[in-house]
Amino acid sequence: MAAASSGPPDFIAGLPKCELHVHLEGTLEAALADLLAERHGLPVPDGGTVRPATFDGLADFLTRYYAAMAGLRTEQDFYDLAAAYLDVARRQGVVYAELFFDPQAHTARGVPFGDVVRGLRRAQVDAAASGGPDSALICCFLRDEPVELAAATLDASLEFKDWILGVGLDSDERGNPPAKFAAVFERARSEGYRLTMHCDPRQEGSVAHLWQCLDVVGVDRIDHGVECVADDRLVKELARRQIGLTVCPLSNLRLYGTLMADVVRELLERDVLVTVNSDDPAYFGGYAADNLRAVADDAHLDRAALVRLARNSFEAAWLTQGRRAAYLRQVDEYAAG
Ligand code: HPA
Ligand code: ZN
Repeated sequence: MAAASSGPPDFIAGLPKCELHVHLEGTLEAALADLLAERHGLPVPDGGTVRPATFDGLADFLTRYYAAMAGLRTEQDFYDLAAAYLDVARRQGVVYAELFFDPQAHTARGVPFGDVVRGLRRAQVDAAASGGPDSALICCFLRDEPVELAAATLDASLEFKDWILGVGLDSDERGNPPAKFAAVFERARSEGYRLTMHCDPRQEGSVAHLWQCLDVVGVDRIDHGVECVADDRLVKELARRQIGLTVCPLSNLRLYGTLMADVVRELLERDVLVTVNSDDPAYFGGYAADNLRAVADDAHLDRAALVRLARNSFEAAWLTQGRRAAYLRQVDEYAAG
C-alpha cells in the first residue's frame, strides 16, 4: 500500500465490486421522491426537493430520511426505487449487492410487508436478467422502536424467507444497544438468516456495542464499526474472526465531517476484513465507486489496496463458496488485465 496514484478513475468504476451496506430507502433520489409524490397527489416543494449537503449527525439525518419515504406506498413504488438503484449500481461496477430495507418504516404507514418485498424482488429479478447486478435482501429492524415490533417484523418476513438472506439492525443507536435485540437475532439465526448490525460512528458506547455484537449476539458482519480502532484487542479479535466491517466514507463525511479514510487504511494494514460501501447514496452524494474513489484519493491507496477492498467485499458477502470463488476470479482477472 505505497502512497501512489489510484490510477485513472475508470479503473475504480470497472473494478468488479460488491455492495454490502446500502439502504434501499437511502437510494431514493430527490427526483424520484418528487415523482412518487406527484403519483400519489402529495405536496411537492416549489422547485422540487432539495437535500442538505451535510447533516448534524445520525439523528438529524434519520428525521429527514423517514420523512422522505412518504411517497413509497405501492408495490410499483418499491419496484421503481430498487430498479433505479440497481441501474446506477451496475454502472458503478457493482456485480453483486446485499440490500437493506426498512419494512417497519412502511408497515407503520399502513403499507403491507408483502407489497414492499414483492416490489423490491421484481426489480432484483429484472436487473439480474438484464446485465446485473445480482442481489439479495437484508431485512432491517429499527432499533429505536420496541423489541416486540422487531419480533413481529421477523414473523412477517418468514413468508418471504426464500428472498431474504439475513437481518440487520439500524436507525438511532443512542440507548439501543445490540444486546437489547439479542433474542430476536437468536430466533432469526434459528430461522436460517445471517446476522448483521449497525455500530455507527461516534455513538455513546460504540466500543461496548461492538463487543456485544461479537460476544452477545454473534453477528456475521458489522455495519460501519470504525470505532473499533479505539480498542486494540477488539481490532485483533475482528481480524482473527474475519468479521466484515462495512465502512461508508461519504456517509461519514456528510454526517461527521470526515471520510475516516485513514481508518480504512489502518484496518487494511491490520488485516481486518474492511469493505467500502455507500450507505444512503441519495443523501450522501455517491454510490459504490464514488466511495472507493473518495477513500483512494484521501488515503492515497494504490491499485493493490483497491483490489484488496474489492476482494474483501466478496469475502465478507453471504455467498456460497462457488459463487464467491467466481466473483474473486473476476476481480483477479480484471486486476491482471
Ligand atoms: N445508521 C443507522 N440507521 C440508518 C443508517 C445508518 O447509517 N442509514 C439508514 N438508516
Ligand atoms: Zn447504514
